[in-house]
Amino acid sequence: MAKKILIIPGDGIGPEVTEWGKQTLETVGQLFGHQFVYDQALLGHAAIEATGQPLPPDTLAKAQQADAILFGAIGHPMYDNDPTRKVRPEQGLLALRKGLGLYCNLRPIKLFDELVHASSLKPEVLRGADILFFRELTGDVYFGEPRGRRDEGDTAFDTMIYSRYEVRRIAERAFQAARHRRRRVHSIDKANVLESSRLWRETVKQVAAQYPDVELIDMFVDNAAMQLIRDPRQFDVVLTGNLFGDILTDEASQIAGSMGMLASASLGDKTGFYEPIHGSAPDIAGRGIANPLASILSVALLLEHAFGLVAEAQAVVRAVETTLAQGWRTGDIADAQTPAAQRLNTAQMGQKVLAALAVPETA
Ligand code: IPM
Ligand code: MG
Repeated sequence: MAKKILIIPGDGIGPEVTEWGKQTLETVGQLFGHQFVYDQALLGHAAIEATGQPLPPDTLAKAQQADAILFGAIGHPMYDNDPTRKVRPEQGLLALRKGLGLYCNLRPIKLFDELVHASSLKPEVLRGADILFFRELTGDVYFGEPRGRRDEGDTAFDTMIYSRYEVRRIAERAFQAARHRRRRVHSIDKANVLESSRLWRETVKQVAAQYPDVELIDMFVDNAAMQLIRDPRQFDVVLTGNLFGDILTDEASQIAGSMGMLASASLGDKTGFYEPIHGSAPDIAGRGIANPLASILSVALLLEHAFGLVAEAQAVVRAVETTLAQGWRTGDIADAQTPAAQRLNTAQMGQKVLAALAVPETA
């Protein structure tokens, strides 16, 4: 059966890296005999430029009809230093998450052994770290109402809000995943201060009661931020809200060596959305030097979660491992010892991974 994949390249380095995600899909399709059909759509700054809207209705319609979505990145510097702009690229991504009901954001943080020196953290602290974040994605202060200004604009407010069903559905996914891992869930909140966190904690405990074989550890977010870099190996599954998850997963990217390596899956009850964690990186956009591995690893998540193609997903991850083991590096994961001949641009890195995929290891 042919699977429909919507490609949304987005902004900045998005198109450059997503090209290699797509080529990875193509190669997997050829090797394993699957047919993928592609469509393309606009989101973010690229969409504002073309249509005036960050999420054009055509994009939402195509997204709803797709079997999976591969996304690049969002954002443009022209909005970042101008808080008066009413239309912003990020609104497109948030509206799409809400429109598709993508409440569950999976962010696996796994250190590739080869990259232990690319991180700013000590190798002995990092080695073996393997964390799966469950970040709630359609609630919290990101979407809470009311929000706005009062006192003639001199006071601004947002609303941090969670309902029990929102906490329960993501907590259930986290506990189920923990059963296939090391059976430990850290639930991160700020229940010593926030009422929404007290509801979070209470609900997670209720869910945990159905999983007596999985250990639940409640942790305050400030402590979690510290524990993550003090001893990342204590974490297995981490369950948290939208805002705390946004912040902690950027921090945790250092555990994997580089932001350029991390993929994510945003899941709801239907079409899932797969994207690198990194942003649009305007400083290097258009130069063809971005690391395509996060997009390629997003394809691995897509194959597994959207289509249940586990062997195919593993083949992609192995191809990335092989490429790294051969010493190939883009700028963001190179270090002082990396010889000039091993330093690659985006296309060269993409090709190395495809070559590693094309020759499956027999060993
Ligand atoms: C992320 C990003 C987004 C978020 C932005 C671009 C709206 O930082 O996916 O982590 O805050 O969720
Ligand atoms: Mg973020």
